[in-house]
Amino acid sequence: MATLGVNIDHVATLRQARYRGTPDPARGEPNPSHAVHVAELAGAECITMHLREDRRHVNDRDVRVCRDLCRVKFNLEMGATDEMVGIAGGLRPHMSTLVPEGREEVTTEGGLDVAGQRDRLTGVVATLRDAGVSASAFIDADERQIRAAADAGFEWCEVHTGPYAEAFMGAGGDLRDPALAAALSRVAAAGRLIIELGMRFNAGHALNYANVRPIAALPGVEELHIGHSIVSRAVYTGLHEAVATMRALIAG
Ligand code: PXP
Repeated sequence: MATLGVNIDHVATLRQARYRGTPDPARGEPNPSHAVHVAELAGAECITMHLREDRRHVNDRDVRVCRDLCRVKFNLEMGATDEMVGIAGGLRPHMSTLVPEGREEVTTEGGLDVAGQRDRLTGVVATLRDAGVSASAFIDADERQIRAAADAGFEWCEVHTGPYAEAFMGAGGDLRDPALAAALSRVAAAGRLIIELGMRFNAGHALNYANVRPIAALPGVEELHIGHSIVSRAVYTGLHEAVATMRALIAG
């Protein structure tokens, strides 16, 4: 059964909507550290935070406090910059998921181009490994990228499920729809290749309560990384219920 990683960035995004520019935004609410605790109580097996270069949502103090509090797997999402690799070395999350970072994007928009910077990323993965951090590449369901990730020494690949989620919405969730079936089978094929090359298969991005089950049912998928839909639902139901409901859906 796949496990659930809860991405709590959106809690910080909400906090910043009110507290950006105030002297100590880390004291504002809602506080990501409270979300760590509630998500764990509700059964989350992993907590993810994305520390961006410009710190526009999550800041350094957030990741330090949450890393200290977290009793499950802690996954630091980050760009593959020297600064972030240094921070990961000090923080020692269990895993770092390397993502591309565009300054203007609201959230991560596409997979990392591993093939285009394989040599540099090989060094990044080795540095992280030496610091005791296992590296995950957030990539599109693309054979070339998956093979490059294996060559670079990544232990995990997280397949970008955004195109699948879009197709799901377009098809109204009808799995017989050719575009949706094709998008799902691309994620499945990516997962097979990841496992065949000796890496571990995760998936995430734009997964929600309607579209998660076909992805959770894919053979060999280990972790689903989900943020926006859980934090959005929490506005109505509370975070505990939102996490527990997602976890039950993943369990089938
Ligand atoms: N996985 C990665 C690598 C991401 O960058 C994000 C977005 O922060 C997620 C998963 C979660 O995506 P969403 O918020 O759409 O569930």
